[in-house]
Amino acid sequence: MGITLKSPAEIDAMRVAGRLASEVLDFLTPHVMPGVTTLQIDTLAHDYMVNVQGTTPATLNYSPPGYPPYPASLCTSVNHEVCHGIPAERPLKNGDIVNIDVTVITKDGWHGDNSRMFVVGEGSIAARRLCALTFEAMWKGIVKVKPGARLGDVGHAIQLFAENSGFSVVREFCGHGIGQRFHEEPQVLHYGRPGTLEELVPGMVFTIEPMINAGRRDIREDRKGGHYDGWTIVTKDRSLSAQWEHTVVVTETGYEVLTVSAGSPPAPAFATAGYGTPVAVAA
Ligand code: MF3
Ligand code: CO
Ligand code: CO
Repeated sequence: MGITLKSPAEIDAMRVAGRLASEVLDFLTPHVMPGVTTLQIDTLAHDYMVNVQGTTPATLNYSPPGYPPYPASLCTSVNHEVCHGIPAERPLKNGDIVNIDVTVITKDGWHGDNSRMFVVGEGSIAARRLCALTFEAMWKGIVKVKPGARLGDVGHAIQLFAENSGFSVVREFCGHGIGQRFHEEPQVLHYGRPGTLEELVPGMVFTIEPMINAGRRDIREDRKGGHYDGWTIVTKDRSLSAQWEHTVVVTETGYEVLTVSAGSPPAPAFATAGYGTPVAVAA
């Protein structure tokens, strides 16, 4: 199939999809607290998407080759869960960290995909640091996006920052092209070497969604007493894992993040310096 470039009109439509995906996370934010189950969060999100937004949850019954149909309207990955955690009756407790990953499909068929970390209640310093630095790692990749740059530049920036912070990067899952399909080419690795892989061209739309572990990078399927739900991935050493995700488009001059809304956490200073942020100039 190859990488599909999106036209200006298609990017307008994907901007709407991205905003709606982000607004689901805004809506959920006040509900993420001790005692709430991830299944309750899933139900709230499902009703908001379907009845308020008029969007479709892309994950519900999503069934790529080799996977059983995904049974929920979002993913909730708690503590040592890396990704694709299935919402369950388990209540969140003080100090948990949880990634909530939401993908909407608009009425005209465009996808918006994003995730954020939430610290439930207080949270240890180590847990908060992992979440904050994983957010920065995502942005270290985003700011590399511009015409002529390569996907290896994006992956390298993320890996360098994560590993210099004492963390490790999950290799088995990556970001992805997105549009009228949920997962398109290219694969967006969160590690790599500068100057390698696909060259970025205006109109490319893809996600950047690093999974960063506090311990070793190795992962495994979450087999509970011999049973595997077909989806949930955990760290092998049971260390904490964090992830953030945005959908971005390559513009003529750089990037635009499509998954933004009133409640989006602001970009870090290194991403906004030079765009209205005062920068010291030598006399
Ligand atoms: N939203 C995830 C991503 O960022 C994919 C979830 S697929 C599911 O690509 F089936 F697990 F929901
Ligand atoms: Co994604
Ligand atoms: Co996602």
